Amino acid sequence: MTNIFKGQDALKNFLNPEKHPNLPMVELSASLNPFTGDNVRIFAKMMSLSPLGNVKAVPAFNMVQEMFLRGDLEGVERLVENSSGNTIFSMAVAARQFGVERTQAYVPSEISWNKMLMLLFFGVEPIVNQEPQKPAESDPASGVYKARKDGEASDVLNLGQYDNIDNPGAHKKWIGPQIWEQTEGRIDIFCAGLGTTGTLIGNAKFLKDKDPSIKVVGALRAADNYVPGVRTENLLSVVGFDWREYVDQIEPVETAASYALSMALSRKGIMAGPSSGLALVGLLNQLQTLKDSNRLDDLRRASSGEITCVFICPDGPVPYLDEYFKYLDSSHFPKIQNEDILTNKP
Ligand SMILES: Cc1ncc(COP(=O)(O)O)c(C=O)c1O
Repeated sequence: MTNIFKGQDALKNFLNPEKHPNLPMVELSASLNPFTGDNVRIFAKMMSLSPLGNVKAVPAFNMVQEMFLRGDLEGVERLVENSSGNTIFSMAVAARQFGVERTQAYVPSEISWNKMLMLLFFGVEPIVNQEPQKPAESDPASGVYKARKDGEASDVLNLGQYDNIDNPGAHKKWIGPQIWEQTEGRIDIFCAGLGTTGTLIGNAKFLKDKDPSIKVVGALRAADNYVPGVRTENLLSVVGFDWREYVDQIEPVETAASYALSMALSRKGIMAGPSSGLALVGLLNQLQTLKDSNRLDDLRRASSGEITCVFICPDGPVPYLDEYFKYLDSSHFPKIQNEDILTNKP
């Protein structure tokens, strides 16, 4: 395949997941897969290799394109969304291809400066918001509520990623079929982190339609732990989707374990950010639970001797580099020789 995008619609086609070959899926070697001896195969689905380098590029394009096809972008001058991460700049880039030049973002007051720079780099207009302690979509002080209210004006559109069915719909339409084809229908366990829950719901819908016995694991942040892009069980209350219907098992995961495993993946060539590490930790914890209760044997027998698992890698580590040094202690990193003569140390 020549993989070239040309002509007037080159950029729009380049951003359109439908116009691309399957995103790579890579099997973990034994050094990253402690269940190799149990005939468990684990594959990383590299959403990080989409044109915008992150998982949200897929639903962002779909949400904008579906609005356009319904005629709902007519007269729209700007988008507004509650998001400080991958969603907002992916939306801004997609929207420009459909004639909407401006995108505004409600961002929480504790947004990291790096993320703020990222928004400014992509031309997104930030509106800093003091979020309530326990944000709920119906709370007028929350960014979700404010973005929805702003979107009621005729020239403003709030795509509303937390309850827009074209968010999970994108995964059902494009990514689930890829995973099914790439595993030749042999997938037994699917695991994804839960942010808006669009990734999990869309893929689970497609895969469970194909084979209801596929087990779906939802990885979330353990209470009081931080991993960008994913939520704690409490914070999932702002999500309007019925995600619990699609999850067979919830796995809460801690910050340090997520960062450590994402760094281990990256060091072997699978460029994976913190939430990829979180999804892999969730999957490994689930496999351990199955093994401890002798259910791994049953699953292996039911799937002709081999268990196939897929976890989602939503993005790469580079946007979070400084955070690895915050959440992992110095034993994880090489020592710098002659550090004292460095002239540019922060
Ligand atoms: C880095 C990262 N990981 C995971 C997720 C969660 O994906 P979803 O919103 O589909 O649940 C997101 C969503 O923004 C993300 O940006």
